Amino acid sequence: MRELSLNVLDIAQNSIVANATLVTVTVTEAEGMLTIAIGDNGCGMTAEQLERIRDPFYTTRTTRRVGMGIPLFRMAAEMAGGTLTIHSEVGVGTTVTASFQLGHIDRMPLGDIVGTMETLIQLNPTIDFLYRHTVNGKSFELDTRSLREVLGDVPLSEPDILEWINGSLTEGIQELGSIA
Ligand SMILES: Nc1ncnc2c1ncn2[C@@H]1O[C@H](COP(=O)(O)OP(=O)(O)OP(=O)(O)O)[C@@H](O)[C@H]1O
Ligand SMILES: [Mg+2]
Repeated sequence: MRELSLNVLDIAQNSIVANATLVTVTVTEAEGMLTIAIGDNGCGMTAEQLERIRDPFYTTRTTRRVGMGIPLFRMAAEMAGGTLTIHSEVGVGTTVTASFQLGHIDRMPLGDIVGTMETLIQLNPTIDFLYRHTVNGKSFELDTRSLREVLGDVPLSEPDILEWINGSLTEGIQELGSIA
């Protein structure tokens, strides 16, 4: 994986499988570090499940034995002088947080995070997404819950709406002066 946005897509997929109704993606650039957190209000994990997640051969999938989403994201973080942590509570949800040294030679670029968020919104019309990007204390936020309020019955997966979301994210992130 050459772009961290693909890891985000992968980790958010776990949240969707966990029956989340709200998935929050936060990207923070501050003090030489990049932090990416994916949070959800899905089924959560027990302490035992959490323990076993460190082991890449642990997965609840039945079609394939090896779950690679979290190990790959952890590897990307550790390669770039960062860490990956998981907080999870059964019935409450899960947050996966990865950190990276912004200037580390082995840090992968964030890549097409706009495309990732657009894809997530398009393919999961019943799930809400909150994207928040902060660069040195300045923030941009897009919340599909607020969009839904304005749009009424118009689905978020409507091409015009997706195009607007894409433009809004692109512009918002650009204005922050992101270097991720
Ligand atoms: N957000 C989450 N909520 C609840 N359980 C999770 C969450 N994220 C991961 N898990 C649990 O951890 C396991 C490992 O996740 P991981 O993404 O590493 O592999 P996978 O999803 O099983 O397979 P892959 O990502 O390779 O398709 C999952 O099978 C699931 O049981
Ligand atoms: Mg996964």
